[in-house]
Amino acid sequence: MDTQPNSPEARDKKYHMHAYTNARRHQEVGPLIIEKGDGIYVEDISGKRYIEAMSGLWSVGVGFSEKRLVDAATRQMAKLPFYHNFTHKGHSPVIDLAEKLVTMAPVPMSKAFFTNSGSEANDTAMKMIWYRSNALGQPQKKKIISRKRGYHGVTIASASLTGLPYNHMSFDLPIANVLHTSSPHHWREAQPGETEQQFSTRLADDLEKLILAEGPDTVAAFFGEPVMGAGGVVVPPAGYWEKIQAVLKKYDILLVADEVICGFGRTGNMFGTETYAMQPDIMVMSKQISSSYLPISAMLVNDRVFDPLADESNRIGTFGHGFTAGGHPVAAAVALENIAIIEERNLVANAREVGAHMQKRLAGLAAHDLVGEVRGVALIGAMELVTDKATKAPWGNVGALGGLVNGILQQNGVISRNMGDSLAFCPPLIINDKQVDDIFDAVEKSLDEAARQVKA
Ligand SMILES: Cc1ncc(COP(=O)(O)O)c(C=O)c1O
Repeated sequence: MDTQPNSPEARDKKYHMHAYTNARRHQEVGPLIIEKGDGIYVEDISGKRYIEAMSGLWSVGVGFSEKRLVDAATRQMAKLPFYHNFTHKGHSPVIDLAEKLVTMAPVPMSKAFFTNSGSEANDTAMKMIWYRSNALGQPQKKKIISRKRGYHGVTIASASLTGLPYNHMSFDLPIANVLHTSSPHHWREAQPGETEQQFSTRLADDLEKLILAEGPDTVAAFFGEPVMGAGGVVVPPAGYWEKIQAVLKKYDILLVADEVICGFGRTGNMFGTETYAMQPDIMVMSKQISSSYLPISAMLVNDRVFDPLADESNRIGTFGHGFTAGGHPVAAAVALENIAIIEERNLVANAREVGAHMQKRLAGLAAHDLVGEVRGVALIGAMELVTDKATKAPWGNVGALGGLVNGILQQNGVISRNMGDSLAFCPPLIINDKQVDDIFDAVEKSLDEAARQVKA
């Protein structure tokens, strides 16, 4: 590592506090500084090239060098660099994007509301749900259920929805009215001999018990990612969404599909909602909506949600919520162009087809000594790393083996991400079969190297 006092590495350590980073350890190891992007590749400051097998943060669907997005941003920046949508104002990009999202939704939706990040969108969804309950004269109906291992962001409300310990510890979270039900990871959580269908039935029963214990008239909504991402890529077991939705319907509980990772092709359909036959009342979108070239997020709400909100805003005089940059014209223009590229280049079909190849390569590694399970759908997947397949016990602390393999893989030119001992893969939607082979050849080599180190 460059230790020149004035180097970017030294200045990073001196001035920059990183997200999701051990701040003390960072002072020892310093940053990996990425300077350039090209298709599915990125290059660091020393000129080393990597395959970005996580699309950055599950987000750069069209790859790291899409000129059409640069042009769309430049055009809009020159025409109208900023305007907002407060107090009846608007601008063409946000109107076009709202229309596009509502009309492309796989289930009936009524309106789009814009925010700047997945966290803000989930936070806003929660506020809308509370506002709606008040509008409907059900002030007691405020509890929200999400899942252990679910990820919905980091603001006070969305971190509360997130079901991961390090998003709660020392932050005094979760807040009141947020409850977590069981995680749907069959390999880890199923009882011996329990089929996926039986496991799903048990999880739906767990949910129903929780609702009954809390009082059904106090539960307003359920938040879930069609496929869990940051919790370690947990694909729902067979029958899961069907059974969960039956319980929600029975007790008149809204469903929020957090499509922040799954949306715009990741699971082989435009939305995870389609892949798993979900009927959400709210869809939350971000990341691949603009391939993260600019920050933008959106919520689609159906009439069941919109109508009471509209009435309540009329009663109060305004819907007292909105962000300065929500629906930013440059970000909206980039999102529209990005969605056009996804459609024109059939990137959803590519996710399905090349995704099938990626799942085959993942499955081919299931027999490796360090791999306990592989899982995934289309262009999202993970392998669970263990040293003892029978007991599924971690190698020392949870995350030690994941960190080891992830580090070796990075040296071997592939950027992945370990969530504990789950090593995730979520490459750009533009990837081809040969590039998938490059990733998994490197993964295989890295697993072998890690196995030698573990043995030693
Ligand atoms: C499913 C899901 N929801 C919400 C978020 C939060 O998004 P952001 O980091 O933009 O706040 C993420 C981020 O990874 C996510 O994966």
